[in-house]
Amino acid sequence: MAITTASFAKAKAQGRKLTMLTAYDYTTARLVDEAGVDGILVGDSLGMVMLGYDSTLPVTMEDMIHHTRAVTRGAKHALVVADLPFMAYQVSTEQAVANAGRLIQEGGASAVKLEGGVAFEEQIAAIVRASIPVMGHIGLTPQSVNAFGGFKIQGKTQEAAQRVLDDARAIERAGAFAVVLEGIPTQLAQRIAQTISIPTIGIGAGDVTDGQILVAQDMLGMYGELSPKFVRRYANIGQQITQAISAYIADVQSGDFPNNEAEGYTMDGTQLEGLH
Ligand code: KIV
Ligand code: NA
Repeated sequence: MAITTASFAKAKAQGRKLTMLTAYDYTTARLVDEAGVDGILVGDSLGMVMLGYDSTLPVTMEDMIHHTRAVTRGAKHALVVADLPFMAYQVSTEQAVANAGRLIQEGGASAVKLEGGVAFEEQIAAIVRASIPVMGHIGLTPQSVNAFGGFKIQGKTQEAAQRVLDDARAIERAGAFAVVLEGIPTQLAQRIAQTISIPTIGIGAGDVTDGQILVAQDMLGMYGELSPKFVRRYANIGQQITQAISAYIADVQSGDFPNNEAEGYTMDGTQLEGLH
């Protein structure tokens, strides 16, 4: 059975923890999907992880649609959520709805995610009115890196915590089906998870949320030497890739690869001498 937004609500009601990972391409989406996560996020983090930018700000709608199409071809089970990139929803509600629609219609996603709470309540409500499920995203929202003055944990003071809690309430009010809580203190995440009825998906928000999300390349050890405190490394795939490629280079140079019997082809009894 494919996962839907209703499955997310049911999981929270039953106390079953939700799991999400990012994917940006067909191959990774298949692996993540077959392992059995509930949701796959085509995050605008692809700007950093796939495209090598130093923030998510340069990512375009075209980038998001291109990667979302690849991911939806690989995901059979998980709910695919696609990020609205920077400037795709900030300018107007009309643009927000139109761009959300493109991620569904052209990308094949089942839901969209956008950053911000109180300030974007109108956009979220309008997208939901268009029958497009919305996932909110508050706390350390990477598209606000310049406004924050860096990637800084949010909600540490009472005043700042109140703003994040207000954002969570606004997102619920606007009709979102879930919300990502990123980079906030565990106590605040717990308060939010208890206050709102929709599932909370945490990243750097402690074990108190209704689910967790990580960037797949981070937890697989494929991206970045310096990874944030909240990333747990489940593998060192990057190191394995480098080792495998070094072995390939050595084998080609030594003449060990390819092996003509095992890895080459022979003619169908035709004599080479017959060629002219
Ligand atoms: O773009 C992204 O990867 C994200 C998450 C990590 C929540 O928005
Ligand atoms: Na994102």
